[in-house]
Amino acid sequence: MPEPPDATAWVPSRATLPRLRDSVQQCRGCELWEDATQAVFSAGTRRARLMLVGEQPGDREDREGQPFVGPAGRVLSSALESAGIDRGEAYLTNAVKHFRFEQRGKRRIHQAPDLRHLVACHPWLEAELEAVDPDVVVCLGASAGRAVLGRPVRIGAERGAVLDGPAGRHAVITTHPSAVLRLRSRGGYDEAFAELVSDLRAAASA
Ligand code: URA
Ligand code: SF4
Repeated sequence: MPEPPDATAWVPSRATLPRLRDSVQQCRGCELWEDATQAVFSAGTRRARLMLVGEQPGDREDREGQPFVGPAGRVLSSALESAGIDRGEAYLTNAVKHFRFEQRGKRRIHQAPDLRHLVACHPWLEAELEAVDPDVVVCLGASAGRAVLGRPVRIGAERGAVLDGPAGRHAVITTHPSAVLRLRSRGGYDEAFAELVSDLRAAASA
């Protein structure tokens, strides 16, 4: 049987964020590095109390090398602002560090990571948790929830509550800003945005 994909061999132990940021570019822990432009690590300070975990970089993030700089990132920024959280005081990262997509003509269509990608990439997230040591981890969507809590989560049933997170930290689950963004053309955007803000507030005061 082939070994399951796993980033462990590429993750330096007890490393600082700059060291992790450097090392992640060499990671071959799963096949997602092959088609991506680069690994996208985190943004934010190691002194952050609040760590926000997304799913994976999107098209813009893949090109720019920074998390949450595309359309979903703009929704997140404005939700953080509405919740009274300074984006620069938080730590933003993703459960998976390489962009997974399907090429259709010129377009690159986002594909959600599989469980095996979340598992393979988890050592990076663990190293970030150790380096930043946040009080609260916010899981943006089901992939982040799965990665952070190590179990399937149900956003509808669990969102906004202060849960037991990894290593005695608090965790709060909320919806992914892309899911909010999708409602712009379908209706329900304002309500979904307000719920996201309220979950972020709950996290900030946990
Ligand atoms: N969606 C995410 O989950 N992360 C990003 O960095 C951008 C979009
Ligand atoms: Fe490594 Fe994660 Fe990229 Fe896979 S997605 S190659 S595990 S950094």
